[in-house]
Amino acid sequence: MKGKRILLGITGGIAAYKIAFLIRILKKKGAEVKCIMTPASCDFISPLTLATLSENPVSIDFWNRQNGEWVNHVDLGMWPDVFVIAPCTASTLAKMANGFCDNLLTATYLSAKSPVVIAPAMDLDMYAHFSTQKNLDLLAANGNRIIPAEEGELASGLIGQGRMAEPENIAAYLEQLFEKQTDFAGKKVLLTAGPTYEKIDPVRFIGNHSSGKMGYRIAESFLQRGASVVLISGPTQEKLTHTRLELISVESAEEMLKAVQQHWPASDIGIFAAAVADYRPKQVAGQKIKKKEEELTITLVKNPDILSWAGQNKTDQQLLVGFALETNDAIAHAQDKLKRKNLDLIVVNTLEDEGAGFKNDTNRIQLLDKHNKITSFELKSKALVAEDLVNYLKHV
Ligand code: CTP
Repeated sequence: MKGKRILLGITGGIAAYKIAFLIRILKKKGAEVKCIMTPASCDFISPLTLATLSENPVSIDFWNRQNGEWVNHVDLGMWPDVFVIAPCTASTLAKMANGFCDNLLTATYLSAKSPVVIAPAMDLDMYAHFSTQKNLDLLAANGNRIIPAEEGELASGLIGQGRMAEPENIAAYLEQLFEKQTDFAGKKVLLTAGPTYEKIDPVRFIGNHSSGKMGYRIAESFLQRGASVVLISGPTQEKLTHTRLELISVESAEEMLKAVQQHWPASDIGIFAAAVADYRPKQVAGQKIKKKEEELTITLVKNPDILSWAGQNKTDQQLLVGFALETNDAIAHAQDKLKRKNLDLIVVNTLEDEGAGFKNDTNRIQLLDKHNKITSFELKSKALVAEDLVNYLKHV
């Protein structure tokens, strides 16, 4: 935790008083702490208390009432290694889930670049309400980390789930999060992502609907955990920059194969998420094909199987992961691919699942290993799916 920058967002609930204890724990562990408070939270704990304990000025408004200066929520959003919103009221949860930014805290949330951790706190009926649960699900599905409210006595006198997680538990959660940030340090990961475009003539190609999102989220997840990543990407709208990322843009399967052949021998882990076109036109017309004929036949030839090449050239120290997108008998097809391509693990997703597959931001996966062990995951954001996969690989 030493030297980590932690931005605490405090909203208006009685549990706000416990944030004083959280700051003390985090400071003792060597973290740097800054606080943003909503105006309502100032009724529960004084900004002076938090400024004194955090040894930093507390931000409350969009501008500083003493000197008239603008408080830059974009800078605040860029500052931390983690943004922790605790306690998070039902109202702030609803605003975050719907993009409202009527105070400095919610505006900073929309600008935040770091992981966001939310510790909700409210009365039990508010917590159990479908609106709150729906907002929590939506926030979690989009990559926010939720520390569920704990059971116990509530300020109302009722007993149930709604108490903010205790400061020690929030601190322990953050410690684990930071540990993960370096658990792949020194590892070299090779990734393929996106579709391939196979030229027909200078203006046309054969392609597919792959968005590249899954591969890019996996790249991000490995980068967040200290790995070096070579990302060989077909044409996509996705963008990614990082000091430990080498992004190689390719168009066709043959170009992708060349890049993989160059980088696979030095890699520890290979993850092949690209939707490679299985066939390409036998001949690429030098000029644009004119529509003279009633029918046009394009002869296709098989593309190289890039993943199979990597499987054939795999050492015992390397881990190789493929993807299988199936429409039927998913596990049987995936088992066959795993063997045929000499993989250690295959990520199975089926187009039968609503919300899974190509263009969606969500995915539901199953992981199938060499021993036919199947691990199934819920439908979740591709960012969280990527995290599940990376967590799994940590223990292979
Ligand atoms: N793959 C690859 N090169 C290809 C085709 C596929 O590297 N030419 C990789 C994909 O990136 C994916 C895995 O192989 O990780 C499975 O792709 P898929 O198209 O489902 O498998 P195929 O072997 O092509 O089987 P089929 O089309 O018969 O389902």
